[in-house]
Amino acid sequence: MGRMLPERPNLAIVGATGAVGAELLRILEERSFPHGRLRLLASARSAGTALLYRGEFVNVEELKDDAFDGVDVAIFSAGGAISRRYAPIAGAAGAVVIDNSSAFRMDPDVPLIVPEINGEAGLTAIGCRLSAGDRGLEPGTEVRRPSIIANPNCSTIIALMAVTPLHRAAGSGGVERMVVSTYQAASGAGAGVMRELEQQARDFAAGRPFTMDLLGRQYLFNLFSHTSTVGESGYNEEEMKLMRETHRIWGDSSPRITATCVRVPVLRAHCEAINLTFRGSLTEDEAREILASAPGVKIVDDRAGNRFPEPIYASGIDEVLVGRIRADISQPPGKGLELFVAGDQLRKGAALNAVQIAEMLIHAPQPTPA
Ligand code: A2P
Repeated sequence: MGRMLPERPNLAIVGATGAVGAELLRILEERSFPHGRLRLLASARSAGTALLYRGEFVNVEELKDDAFDGVDVAIFSAGGAISRRYAPIAGAAGAVVIDNSSAFRMDPDVPLIVPEINGEAGLTAIGCRLSAGDRGLEPGTEVRRPSIIANPNCSTIIALMAVTPLHRAAGSGGVERMVVSTYQAASGAGAGVMRELEQQARDFAAGRPFTMDLLGRQYLFNLFSHTSTVGESGYNEEEMKLMRETHRIWGDSSPRITATCVRVPVLRAHCEAINLTFRGSLTEDEAREILASAPGVKIVDDRAGNRFPEPIYASGIDEVLVGRIRADISQPPGKGLELFVAGDQLRKGAALNAVQIAEMLIHAPQPTPA
């Protein structure tokens, strides 16, 4: 019995100097992720700098075509253009790419995985089984490793961590309609935008005009529609991702989904108000019970104390917080539910999910062809 990956794979992190890259290093360290050689890759601007990891400085190298020789797993967090150009190169060099960008998420040959939600289905799709066993392979059959696995969009992951267990429990096909309004943090736009938000706070305190180098607008004490391209339908790309990726992860495009995505002046955790309509029925009490045992989810729902999920509670932790759990009073009993979630965009929304996928691959056995 071979394995999908060596027990201590050689790792490359593309975009190591970015916001997600920094969080990846933190999570690999925290979880004592087993690996061999580690390559930190970024643009030529960062080549020659070094990042502290497990008590030692690791040099950052410029991303080039030959960067993936001997690499078993490459985690990409440097944007769609870099993924489109270099993920196939990494794959051809024999690496499994776990891609944080949207470049391959809708490619039917690329699994789109949130381990708690569709990890097993994703592994089955890539020709591997979680339980050891004979796949009935003909002698000489080539068993292919996937070359690219996609991490879903951060808002999609955070919403689905709470909604999927309810969708699966509600019966009669689960969610009929989902309405999402996001309150997205600066981290989703990268480390530079986080720094610009902090700089605007310093500018305000010093009575100076706001620095607007990256966003070209006031962000502090303001909020604005997500700046991804707005299509002919009037929806922006972020909203479309949430809808399309949910359908793909659930393997069901029948739930009707609509979203409004907004950037708020918060550093690193996204919040989302979510309204669900069920085909079957799910009461508020049933929803609470399901969410109480849902993996990776924590209920924060103190009505008396008015304490509910907030970005500062969600920042730096692995769980997605869920609260404001209540029956939608505009719906017949059991038909509608309101939720408010908060999740760390850099952790479960990106870096943690990618590391969990890598851990899943390390533990997944793959039959060796006869
Ligand atoms: P660099 O720091 O050298 O610019 P964020 O999303 O936080 O802005 O991070 C983006 C990441 O992608 C950074 O690590 C950045 O490296 C990296 N990156 C940007 N452009 C390139 C490029 N052309 N080649 C390799 N890495 C890149």
